[in-house]
Amino acid sequence: MKTIVLSLGGSILVPSLETNALASYAATLVRLAERFQVYVVVGGGEARRYIGCARALGVDEATLDEVGILVTRLNARLLVAALGRAAYPRVPENYTDARVAGLSGRIVVMGGVTPGQTTDAVAAVLAEEIGADLLINATSVPGIFTSDPKRDPTARRYETMTPGELLELVGRERMNAGSNTVIDLVAAKVVERSRCPMIVLEGRDPSRIEDAVFSGRFIGTIVADGIDRPLPL
Ligand code: UTP
Repeated sequence: MKTIVLSLGGSILVPSLETNALASYAATLVRLAERFQVYVVVGGGEARRYIGCARALGVDEATLDEVGILVTRLNARLLVAALGRAAYPRVPENYTDARVAGLSGRIVVMGGVTPGQTTDAVAAVLAEEIGADLLINATSVPGIFTSDPKRDPTARRYETMTPGELLELVGRERMNAGSNTVIDLVAAKVVERSRCPMIVLEGRDPSRIEDAVFSGRFIGTIVADGIDRPLPL
């Protein structure tokens, strides 16, 4: 069975506790799991508010990251609850435990692992460790752009790019103060060395992920060496 790792932004899954997409995502993930082994790495979303609260108390950045990690794990726990028996019941806190959880054949859901990165990096490392066939990054923008499309109206989307081009773009962007790249640098580096194909798409509507996986139809960016549409699954 082929394996998919999904990096699911917290702002997509749980924009707020009142407006969450937990039930609709659970239904999508169950359908994906009928055909694939599925691992999900959930982001923080509201983590920003907790981090802001702790920062105002003068807490150091590494401890703020620890606060963020706890929120990602809490969101992961909510998704496990929404998935019911389809999910492995525990949220793994490291990659080895995630691999062991995967042996159950159930959907594995985890959050952050270590300070200094985001859950995109966790998903990239997990994809590398388990030899995933596809890494999907579901985020709030429809792909990877030449610059931040939320700020720059002339930003153009990449249909495809190589992992080397992604690394170059992310490295360049980070030198500009206030820039907000869609993929973090650690994730870009791991994608480059693992050669795991990645797609980046706007994920507010979970049916877009099913369309991408089952029919290869999506608006977004493929990051891979020498692979063009349709998807490599
Ligand atoms: P996210 O992965 O959600 O960050 O982790 P993000 O990409 O900025 O937010 P969304 O979800 O896509 O909107 C939330 C915070 O948790 C900490 C970081 O502080 C991060 O900003 N974190 C997360 C870690 O320190 N390490 C991890 O492995 C994961």
